[in-house]
Amino acid sequence: MENEYVLEMKDISKTFPGVKALDHVHLQVKPGTVHSLMGENGAGKSTLMKCLFGIYSLDGGEIILEGKKVQFENPAQALESHVSMVHQELNQVLDQNVMENLWLGRYPIKNGLIDEKKMYADTLKIFKDLDINVNPKAKVGTLPVSQKQMIEIGKAVSYNAKVIVMDEPTSSLTEKEVEHLFRIIRKLIEKKTSVIYISHKMEEILKISDDVTVMRDGKWIATKPAGDLDIDQIIKMMVGREMKERYPHRDKKIGDVLMEVKDLSTASPAFTGVNFELHKGEILGIAGLVGSRRTEVLETLFGIRRKGEGQIIVEGKEIQNRSPQEAIANGFAMLTEERRKDGIFPDLTVGFNMAIDNLDSYRKNGLLNEKLMRTDVNKMIKAMNIKTPSSKQKMANLSGGNQQKVILGRWLLTGPDILLLDEPTRGIDVGAKYEIYQLMNQLVGEGKGIVIVSSEMPELFGVCDRILVMSNGRQSGIFDPSEVSQETIMQASAKFI
Ligand SMILES: Nc1ncnc2c1ncn2[C@@H]1O[C@H](COP(=O)(O)OP(=O)(O)OP(=O)(O)O)[C@@H](O)[C@H]1O
Ligand SMILES: [Mg+2]
Repeated sequence: MENEYVLEMKDISKTFPGVKALDHVHLQVKPGTVHSLMGENGAGKSTLMKCLFGIYSLDGGEIILEGKKVQFENPAQALESHVSMVHQELNQVLDQNVMENLWLGRYPIKNGLIDEKKMYADTLKIFKDLDINVNPKAKVGTLPVSQKQMIEIGKAVSYNAKVIVMDEPTSSLTEKEVEHLFRIIRKLIEKKTSVIYISHKMEEILKISDDVTVMRDGKWIATKPAGDLDIDQIIKMMVGREMKERYPHRDKKIGDVLMEVKDLSTASPAFTGVNFELHKGEILGIAGLVGSRRTEVLETLFGIRRKGEGQIIVEGKEIQNRSPQEAIANGFAMLTEERRKDGIFPDLTVGFNMAIDNLDSYRKNGLLNEKLMRTDVNKMIKAMNIKTPSSKQKMANLSGGNQQKVILGRWLLTGPDILLLDEPTRGIDVGAKYEIYQLMNQLVGEGKGIVIVSSEMPELFGVCDRILVMSNGRQSGIFDPSEVSQETIMQASAKFI
């Protein structure tokens, strides 16, 4: 007889110094289903999955895979038993090519040499089955995040997995890419593979899941069929209280022009003709499809990319921003899309990670005023509700979403006049999103200006005063969200395609 559950995790507990990460948690996954795991940042989702995958040992409880008790000592054993995991933080070797990453540690060998031909053909077959369009010989480092993620999914599948864990697989995917991923997941389900799916995107969860398990503070809260749940119910279980509004109220005070961008352009990958004014106290959104060059606009303003034609004028004075250093000196800060790559120091403390870009302001006569630094850091930890025992915790020990909040805190501490945010709430839970919106409101309340790129339309409509739409490297319009529908923005996004 087939087991009712392909996987059962019973009574799982796990403690780290100062943190009870898992407190008697349960999870029961049926064969050929998508089981979503939900909870706020730091609730214990990734830890539970790392216990399954043999990265952490259990303090208590048991794991039953297809009716048999298992305890994996390491990921290799989990993979051998057909349990695989796509991690929240991708750990790929960037200067290797795609197929080398896929078969790392198990290259096919022929006559004592790596059988490149077979490796290529096997990779192509997996990609073809999953409709993944990536060249197996491309260097991983040159690919966009979305494709890196696809490679990891291909890799998970290559182990003939019965259970695939996807820890926030869509946090960096566009809507189209998410649809593609869902097609892949449905294919997996047809083959009776089960998927444990972790995401903070409610709409997505309800669309793809059969069952939903909610965790809070390391505890199991409930498991229910997705069909019996709506977003408000899930939020309530996650945060343990009613949350009426997803966007905080703000008293709008739009002031004088802070920055003027005139006919901005850049070469490769190119965009042209970007024109807008950012006012003091204003939040300007940038919408667009993948490849529309939203990120590139921010990167050019911040000096990561070389500006082509055009002018950037701040408070009436033209500036150049030839490098991020110059941009920072001109009062800019930017939260980049790939936060992990761009500046997390995993082995250093939370406090250091937050203060690093601001050390100068804590230095007087060559001495570091640690007290002032700690006060600022603790203020940020509190304002954003960062889940950590203290500012002395090692950065690597924070949950993914909380690491992200630390990096955002870092930029806020530099006290920028113009804050450029690229997908600031990606991977962040509903409660924390609210806190980040509040911080944004506070900043614009002080007369600063914010430009935010987001792929989540409700977010753009919820927080922005105006929305600039990019389409295929050109600006296709600027809209007042109180006057247009999401449909209009979608149409503008497709205007030049
Ligand atoms: N190796 C570790 N050492 C110490 N504490 C840890 C370690 N790993 C996780 N924690 C702590 O355990 C708790 C649960 O973290 P976990 O990463 O499982 O959260 P999560 O639900 O995946 O959150 P997110 O949505 O932010 O990814 C957090 O408080 C985290 O700081
Ligand atoms: Mg996590």
